[in-house]
Amino acid sequence: MSATGTEKRLTPPDIQARKGEVPLVVLTAYTTPIARLVDPHCDMVLVGDSVGMVLHGLPSTLPVPLEMMEMHGQAVARGLSQAMLVIDMPFGTYEESPDQAFRNAARLVQATGAAAVKLEGGEHMAETIRFLTRRGIAVMGHVGLTPQAVNTLGGYRVQGRGNDSGRVRADAVAVAEAGAFSVVLEKVPATLAGEITRAVAIPTIGIGASADCDGQVLVVDDMLGLFTPFRPKFVRRYADLGTEASRAIAAYAADVRARTFPAAEHLFGDEPPRT
Ligand code: KIV
Repeated sequence: MSATGTEKRLTPPDIQARKGEVPLVVLTAYTTPIARLVDPHCDMVLVGDSVGMVLHGLPSTLPVPLEMMEMHGQAVARGLSQAMLVIDMPFGTYEESPDQAFRNAARLVQATGAAAVKLEGGEHMAETIRFLTRRGIAVMGHVGLTPQAVNTLGGYRVQGRGNDSGRVRADAVAVAEAGAFSVVLEKVPATLAGEITRAVAIPTIGIGASADCDGQVLVVDDMLGLFTPFRPKFVRRYADLGTEASRAIAAYAADVRARTFPAAEHLFGDEPPRT
């Protein structure tokens, strides 16, 4: 998958060994160009099922099919040379049974070369995580707010407040004990995220959780300001590329309408075709 085949790829055990060390940097990517941009800076790159909402305009992650994950996973793999590739298992492809999960996880790993899959759920998914890891599939867990459960959770709200903290803690512990090499903590109170981070032996990767986690993940389009329909409160924007892109497109449209668009034949070279 690497350009030269000589770079040292991070593996799930390398990531697990980073517990309590320098925080792990994780971003999502869905395309080859973005994968190339994030690769030098990230320990892991996640092809999240958020791709369905961010790139395909779906209202939630629930309709995302396995084929969409496969295709974006292959595109991202082409752009990575050092970061570890993790790919999300979409809703409906793993919850039924450990057998179903293995079949679909193996398909994603074979199609994309991902080193690991991520799946949502705590105690109730522990048996499946154990089944996969014992059969050679590395698993990243995901507890707290699990967006694939938006209907039963009743929305995208913070999980583990007050009396509910024990449930989220038990979920994280179950995932870790089942053999996951790391676990995403999404939208849980900072104190609880810190407690879980100290309680489990695997790295915690926070999103809307706490700086005390062993690493952080963001949706790359959120932090670049490219995804604008809504912005989760926890997202820090590092650029406003959506506004910059609108400005550039408006300038292009103005050039075309004013006939100031440069298209003289002497400008044509031997570039690859754009069609
Ligand atoms: O789908 C996704 O992008 C994710 C991350 C936000 C953790 O699950």
